Amino acid sequence: MSDDVILATEGLTKEFRGFVAVRDVSLRVRRHTIHALIGPNGAGKTTCFNLLTKFLVPTRGSIHYNGRDITRAAPAQIARMGLVRSFQISAVFPHLSVRENIRVALQRKLGTAFHFWRSESSLDQLNDRADQLADEVGLSEYHGATAGELPYGRKRALEIATTLALEPEMLLLDEPMAGLAHGDIPRIAELIKRVATNRTVLMVEHNMKVVADISDTITVLQRGEVLTEGPYASVAEDPRVKEAYMGTGHG
Ligand SMILES: Nc1ncnc2c1ncn2[C@@H]1O[C@H](COP(=O)(O)OP(=O)(O)OP(=O)(O)O)[C@@H](O)[C@H]1O
Ligand SMILES: [Mg+2]
Repeated sequence: MSDDVILATEGLTKEFRGFVAVRDVSLRVRRHTIHALIGPNGAGKTTCFNLLTKFLVPTRGSIHYNGRDITRAAPAQIARMGLVRSFQISAVFPHLSVRENIRVALQRKLGTAFHFWRSESSLDQLNDRADQLADEVGLSEYHGATAGELPYGRKRALEIATTLALEPEMLLLDEPMAGLAHGDIPRIAELIKRVATNRTVLMVEHNMKVVADISDTITVLQRGEVLTEGPYASVAEDPRVKEAYMGTGHG
């Protein structure tokens, strides 16, 4: 695996009682890029994603991250290695403030081994870092706001902040635009782009405008297999892609 590639799969396959949901997928995700996984309903995107985040064990094939074989690793192990899945891992606590939510994530990252919380100054440090992360995702006016009362788009930004608190080198985003109001979409897309300047992002996303706007590379899945791969311009032109999306209500 070249240094340029942060995540690579080889012949990744997942069968469910004989049904092949993901077949022989070999992905190469380049460092510091945004890579989108797209495809019509049932193409195997979520299954593929769950294999990468270790929520599912592959039937065959391998996954390498930063040169290390993580095929059999547990979700917590890969998170410690800097490969972090957003949304599932970073649940937002509705009754806590923005700052408290981010602090919980920071505390999780630090662990309790060093009795870090004993002193007042360490709590101040945590608050400072939490506020910094809130600012980074555009929540500077919401430090003390209760998470549950945030508008939906701001909640998504908070979820991203709690993910960033874990200091990921690579983020896996599962439909980051899902459920967002029209007006929030450009802001969250812009945020993902900003986050990816010194990190790597792999996302499953249905919103083609966002995929077109921010992805460096797109892998199109169809019936569990890679149909084609490349930058948006070449993928969008591919007649097989148009055909794959026909009659599915997407694209
Ligand atoms: N646990 C499971 N058991 C049996 N079949 C499954 C299971 N999970 C997924 N499948 C099947 O595998 C195929 C791929 O499903 P998957 O959820 O990965 O598709 P997807 O690309 O994420 O679709 P969508 O765009 O609708 O989210 C589908 O035919 C689905 O029914
Ligand atoms: Mg899915």
